[in-house]
Amino acid sequence: MNDHRRPQNDRPLPRQSGIRRRNFLAGSLAAGAVAFARTQAWAQNGATVPQACVPPIPPGQPVSFTPSTGGPVRVRKSAFELSAPEITRLKNAYAALRDLTKQKPDDPRGWFHQGQVHCWYCSGALDGLWGQEIHGGWWFLPWHRAYLFFHEQILGALIGDPTFALPYWDWDTPGRDRFPFDVYGQPGDTGNPLFDPTRGVGPNDRIPARFVGTTAMKNVLNSRTFADFGGSSDQEIGMGNLEGGPHGAVHVWTTDPTVDFNNPKPDMGVLASAAFDPVFFAHHANIDRIWDKWNKADPTQHTNPTNSVWLQQGFFFYDQSPNWTYISNDQMLAPELLSYNYQTPQTSAGPGPIASAAAAAPAVRLAQRLSAPVVELHQGAAPKALTPEPMTVQTTIPPQGREKLTASATAGAAPPTVILRIEGVEIPADRGALVNVFLNRPDATAASGPDDPGYVGTIAVVASQAPGGVGHKHPVIRNFSFDITGKLAASLGSDNNVAVTLVPATGTGKKPAAVNLSYSRVYIATRQ
Ligand code: C2O
Repeated sequence: MNDHRRPQNDRPLPRQSGIRRRNFLAGSLAAGAVAFARTQAWAQNGATVPQACVPPIPPGQPVSFTPSTGGPVRVRKSAFELSAPEITRLKNAYAALRDLTKQKPDDPRGWFHQGQVHCWYCSGALDGLWGQEIHGGWWFLPWHRAYLFFHEQILGALIGDPTFALPYWDWDTPGRDRFPFDVYGQPGDTGNPLFDPTRGVGPNDRIPARFVGTTAMKNVLNSRTFADFGGSSDQEIGMGNLEGGPHGAVHVWTTDPTVDFNNPKPDMGVLASAAFDPVFFAHHANIDRIWDKWNKADPTQHTNPTNSVWLQQGFFFYDQSPNWTYISNDQMLAPELLSYNYQTPQTSAGPGPIASAAAAAPAVRLAQRLSAPVVELHQGAAPKALTPEPMTVQTTIPPQGREKLTASATAGAAPPTVILRIEGVEIPADRGALVNVFLNRPDATAASGPDDPGYVGTIAVVASQAPGGVGHKHPVIRNFSFDITGKLAASLGSDNNVAVTLVPATGTGKKPAAVNLSYSRVYIATRQ
């Protein structure tokens, strides 16, 4: 065992809860010592799809992250609001990062290895030596927060500027539902360190409102628990509304404005290659900002998990020194703990305060666990395949079930949070998925979206690997939870019939030609 790679102090090793731990660290890195020698990228249509993503072997002991004190606070601004000198600074930083890879290809701080970091943690590598999967559940937000933090430190150190900050691409600000060409796309050639030749968007393309419009964003920001917003845990593995909604859609849109999840294209459209486009970091800075915004919108209810498994989980990154560094979730609960913050978008057209539904809701407990299913809509022996046509599962709720699921607040007791759960969603590793979910709207079509009263959410999953790649492919299995409190009560007729309709869609609202997705169970439960 490679004990020298373990954290030296009392911080626990990463726990195994709730994620498939593929030979994390010990096995993976040891084998990686051999594999690293042949680490290479596979170039396809100008895209860089890694075949092996194992990080360079740490030269010495890992160190525990210690927050810096007294240094400048890095202020992250909208990519649409950078001044000319700030754009130049950003370009200089990425030029230095790319140059480092040219000068020292094995330096973990260089551009190539920075891009590889994401691949290693997304099971996107084809070498079987991946790290833990940090997508699809409650590691998603903290892992990406730490990744951006170290990436930003490295960029700042390379240009000797401790105030250097990553910009954020605020696609959720009205009017900014477009690619930030002025910063990341001009000039559109590889002489520009922020340019990536694999993008498919043009200056006139707009991200469909169904993904990032006001209604879609309210759906995300009104999530009442961290599980619904940011993903859930060992007991209840599942993707949060932010990851499974706008996050995934913007990834795919960047390479393909029709947002065809069935035909994922590197770089941004495939997780294994996504971080080889510099705009990835601006996209994720926005994800991170929205997490912070959600926390601050309602400090009593919008809290991060308090479960020690989550708090003590940590991740390894190379820092700017470069030291192989262990940082845990409890060290990054808020941007302030890492000496950066977000400047609010300086536009009068910005979205107003978060809608009332969350604010007005009576206090709900923050527990993560679901009750036993109250209503089973589908539970098959074999996974059920989705077709391009909308598919409805339905049943009649027994009277006690109706009572339980539609109870309103009584003195001293909050009404139950009602969750629609779709489990065992299986997607091939080289395919993504875009499926809209509706409640009691069996006539929903691919054109129906967030403005439909029966809309409860979207499954927007980015492919892990490039299509047609070689090597091992394992399907990705995920679970999804949607908060249907209130919506269920409002849509139930006297017949007590409840119907859930899954509508595969493409970004343009057309129905896809083919769908590569199956699911094993659909039910309704309450959060306890
Ligand atoms: Cu790690 Cu946007 O994905």
